[in-house]
Amino acid sequence: MRLDKAVAMTGLTRSEARKAIVAGRVQVDGRPVRDGAMQVQPGQVTIDGSAPVEAGELYIMVNKPAGVLTATEDRRLPTVLELLPPALRRRGLGPVGRLDRDVTGLVLLTTDGQLAHRLISPKWKAEKQYRARCEGRLTANEVEAFAQGISLSDFTARPARLILLETGDEGSTADVVLTEGKFHQVKRMFAAVGHPLVALERLRIGPLALDPILGPGQWRHLTEGEADALYKSCQMKSGED
Ligand code: URA
Repeated sequence: MRLDKAVAMTGLTRSEARKAIVAGRVQVDGRPVRDGAMQVQPGQVTIDGSAPVEAGELYIMVNKPAGVLTATEDRRLPTVLELLPPALRRRGLGPVGRLDRDVTGLVLLTTDGQLAHRLISPKWKAEKQYRARCEGRLTANEVEAFAQGISLSDFTARPARLILLETGDEGSTADVVLTEGKFHQVKRMFAAVGHPLVALERLRIGPLALDPILGPGQWRHLTEGEADALYKSCQMKSGED
């Protein structure tokens, strides 16, 4: 197919694709090419060093704003998939785990169901890191309680790391790192130690960190290195099914 068509498969319009090519942002087999009519296989094409356009699977990080559902479609409310251009919405992408509607930050979308499963499954223990703002002053007592495993009404949470960043009587900020993701889990853990959450943002899934350049509602393809690191963390080969 033509290079400009292959580039447009990433979700750009044809004219955006042509501009990216003219600007030298597009590579074929790693070498910049400025001829949109060149015949290519999509797997040869990269943009800004991202993962190949169509190496079989897609990997996209989204900075989810509050108010948006982590779902592929909903009749009433906007979904993370609707943050993507229409061409990308039809490619079978699904979210890796869910964030509550009021929770912001990193959502990973991929077409690779096996990778998604391993990143979510408690068995594979992929770490999830969140930045939490809560009521009241957090102390070493809460750090210890998280490390022991907080007892909730229906289960005991696995030991989690609580990293205090800022503490005060008016409220505290901390990072929490856990390896499971039950319904409302972080909110429930903070509530259980008497510090209800005010805000929660996901910063990381396994080795994949939210790119700080992405504002709320923005997205980008993972780089090849980021996708490889995810597979490695799940003991999978890239593109394996
Ligand atoms: N924990 C929560 O309570 N909510 C989320 O969305 C994610 C983790």
